[in-house]
Amino acid sequence: MNLLVLGLQWGDEGKGKAIDFLAGNFNVVVRYQGGHNAGHTIYYKGKKVILHLLPSGIFTNNTISIIAQGVVINPIQLVKEIKNISLMGISTDKLIVSMNAPVILPFHQKLDIIFENSRYLKIGTTKRGIGPAYEDLVGRRAVFIRDLIDKDKFYKRVKPLNDYYSKLIRSYDGEEVSINSYIDEYLESGVFLKKHSKNTTYLLNELYMEGKSILFEGAQGVLLDVNQGTYPYVTSSNTCVGGVFTGTGLPHKAVEKVIGISKAYTTRVGEGPFPTELFEEESDFLREKGNEFGSTTGRPRRVGWLDLVALKYSVMINGVNSVFVTKLDIFDEFDEIKVVTDYEINGEQNQIFDPSIDYLNEVEPVFKSFPGWKKSICNVKTFDDLPEKTKYYIKFIENYIKTPVEYISVGTQREQTINR
Ligand code: GDP
Ligand code: IMO
Ligand code: MG
Repeated sequence: MNLLVLGLQWGDEGKGKAIDFLAGNFNVVVRYQGGHNAGHTIYYKGKKVILHLLPSGIFTNNTISIIAQGVVINPIQLVKEIKNISLMGISTDKLIVSMNAPVILPFHQKLDIIFENSRYLKIGTTKRGIGPAYEDLVGRRAVFIRDLIDKDKFYKRVKPLNDYYSKLIRSYDGEEVSINSYIDEYLESGVFLKKHSKNTTYLLNELYMEGKSILFEGAQGVLLDVNQGTYPYVTSSNTCVGGVFTGTGLPHKAVEKVIGISKAYTTRVGEGPFPTELFEEESDFLREKGNEFGSTTGRPRRVGWLDLVALKYSVMINGVNSVFVTKLDIFDEFDEIKVVTDYEINGEQNQIFDPSIDYLNEVEPVFKSFPGWKKSICNVKTFDDLPEKTKYYIKFIENYIKTPVEYISVGTQREQTINR
């Protein structure tokens, strides 16, 4: 059964760990949106690896890894990642990259930094050039992986774009990027990637028709979706289910099941509304226990209690069939655990997550408190063996969102996962 795995919050829900755990049951793992703003952490033979572009099935024998055309690719970063993973003894022979994926160029990153520094509303982007690269795609100016192969073609496609953005960069008193400073490196990456490059739309449709099982790996999280998230504090791609279809070229029926990943609490990196956010000692405690520092940028993540109003929204708009709760072990030493069950606005309570910032900045969260279980659950293998208080917490969540919690993660390692 083809499975979509996506983050239900603001990213970093533990998708890498969950997908690495699930990938053994699939022939193919596909990234379909985002870029190297993602940071998916996996432990392989006890070693921590953070994947930014490579699909999280890369550590699973015989799995085909595909980066489809909805992903914006920095080819220098991709080559680096392939080389690093090869050094670990992992085969990348079954890695396929879409020749029709848009390329992130050095001026995209420069523009991301300039926009971020000059913006009156800071978004707190990862400064990887993701937004400007997607802007070029929508603006019908994008350069693609297939353009990296031939010097003349690359020059013809990139030079006008480089000139166009140089003017803009100068207007912000920035230092423009000369095409000559990166053309050779980009063409070398094109040569390196040639044996991996294909039309992934046809490849995926062939694999689908052959009945191969496919796992779709979401990046970021539902609340960062450019259309359905907390705009403008979002990423520039569709992180919701729709992103699979625009990003792969597969028909809608190719997704047969959707598993949503949620931390047992909430985190967010960058700016934007966060109704259940904690501050000072409370946030320091949770951040430290949960080791909440960004996988991509190292930034301290903002932390807060689980927001069930938001979770229910994410489940609703993605047709989520079951939930994979991660980092439950982080609460092992907590005396008290809270969730938010309602928002209060103008003296009235509701369960509506309207993603507009004006609304979310106004709402007051209404909390429900649970007693902590005060023992380690990191070696528990079955749901029945969890402490009663832990089971109660999970049952409350599934009852609220009217969706089963199918998996529970109690540690960073693949085997620290409970399958109900
Ligand atoms: P992703 O972007 O959704 O793949 O998540 P990240 O890798 O950015 O962040 C999740 C972090 O939590 C990583 O450091 C994981 O190793 C870690 N992690 C995932 N699941 C668990 C869990 O159940 N318990 C603990 N303690 N850590 C976890
Ligand atoms: P994974 O896949 C958490 C956030 C940034 C910023 C906003 C826009 O590891 O869950 P961008 O660089 O995309 O233009 O930044 O989105 N963001 C993420 N937050 N996890 C991610 O990926 C993220 N990718 C982007 O922090 O707030
Ligand atoms: Mg991450």
